Amino acid sequence: MTTKISFRDAGKTFPMKDTSFTALDRVTLDIEDREFVTVVGPSGCGKSTLLSMAAGLVEPSVGRVLVDGRPVTGPGPDRGVIFQQYALFPWLTVRHNVEFGLRLMPVSAAERKRRAQHAIEQVGLADFADALPKTLSGGMKQRCAIARAYAVDPEVLLMDEPFGALDAVTRVQLQDQLLATWSRERRTVMFVTHDVDEAVYLARRVVVMAARPGRIHHVVDVDLPYPRTEEIRLSPEFARVRNEVWHSVYHQEKTAPDLEKADAHREKTEPAAPRRGAGGTG
Ligand SMILES: Nc1ncnc2c1ncn2[C@@H]1O[C@H](COP(=O)(O)OP(=O)(O)O)[C@@H](O)[C@H]1O
Ligand SMILES: [Mg+2]
Repeated sequence: MTTKISFRDAGKTFPMKDTSFTALDRVTLDIEDREFVTVVGPSGCGKSTLLSMAAGLVEPSVGRVLVDGRPVTGPGPDRGVIFQQYALFPWLTVRHNVEFGLRLMPVSAAERKRRAQHAIEQVGLADFADALPKTLSGGMKQRCAIARAYAVDPEVLLMDEPFGALDAVTRVQLQDQLLATWSRERRTVMFVTHDVDEAVYLARRVVVMAARPGRIHHVVDVDLPYPRTEEIRLSPEFARVRNEVWHSVYHQEKTAPDLEKADAHREKTEPAAPRRGAGGTG
């Protein structure tokens, strides 16, 4: 196993008026080549900051972030980034949105078309390739954003709550589609979510973060085979891992000084609708 992404004592402090705010305390974490790692934790624990450092969008204040053993100095085509907000160009069709990222790369027009078509097929949008974003559902827009990242063929996918705005059924479809592509193409995936079921279903390892200051609380191995299926989602082993992660995320909040705030946060982040997964433990 070789290491793909390496955080070495990497932290981030933002300057404030008279003081400074530590968004992320020193984090040390290695993500292996072709590994699927998810990151969960309460709002404000530094998940996006951690991912953005790997993306080269945020520079660490201390420590180092390495990809393939080299310090990250900015964004690059080796790392595709996908956010919750799809950020499509509204005046471009699905196909042209997907081709857009390739325009910055040294590929011919024919190759650009071929790659875009392949990526659009991978996410199941072939019938909508010539549609404008405004005619698409949220799930389809997110498929388009994912296809745009796939088309560049990055070795690393950095995904920040990419399915957070989608309904439960679309979410499950996109999770399965992502896993199918990952097992075929074997990219390294770092995926931020605050949905514990999603974190466990997708990952080989779940990194649980804690807030104030943002840090790694616990790393949980998910010893469940791939391909992940509905049977796995409903298995006792899934329930066991899910409960471990759940406890690790929410126990921090129970012990937080401001219990009321923690409860308000819990209500906000846990949808009232029945949750997928293990035996109603959520
Ligand atoms: N540019 C910034 N300036 C000041 N504080 C920031 C900035 N970006 C993030 N933060 C703070 O850092 C903390 C971690 O943020 P973030 O990484 O977005 O957390 P998460 O993604 O886990 O919700 C939060 O308290 C947030 O308010
Ligand atoms: Mg975030």
